[in-house]
Amino acid sequence: MKIIIINGPNLNLLGKRETDIYGSKSFDDFFVEMQFKFRDVELTYFQSNVEGEIINKIQETGFSFDGIILNAAAYTHTSVGIGDAVRAVSTPVVEVHISNTFAREDFRHSSHIAPHAKGIIAGFGLQSYELAIQSFFENKQ
Ligand code: DQA
Repeated sequence: MKIIIINGPNLNLLGKRETDIYGSKSFDDFFVEMQFKFRDVELTYFQSNVEGEIINKIQETGFSFDGIILNAAAYTHTSVGIGDAVRAVSTPVVEVHISNTFAREDFRHSSHIAPHAKGIIAGFGLQSYELAIQSFFENKQ
């Protein structure tokens, strides 16, 4: 099974950025843990602060991978283009957020991705990604 995690803007700063909200672990360290835990899954990770690069990666993987786990970060709330890309591809996309976006500012309550996503996982810290990986092989109905 091939799954890609795509992270959007500022998520390269995980571990250093607003640690009270996003935690103190870097994504690189967490990703190594996930690779170890899900040895049978071919896990790939991509991060970009650039909207078009995220769209390119969704298009590139969205017809051949088994799953896309997408935390588009702030672009979740603003990007029609990323929403359209999720809509365009055939690979199921799970929208993920580290924080519970619905418990935060109003502008974080909307998502251009959610209407086209297979599901949404938010508010479980980095465990949100782990739950998303599990969803691809434990939720087959
Ligand atoms: C986030 C929530 C977004 O509102 C925010 O802009 C982020 C991170 C999260 O994972 O909780 O950068 O996607």
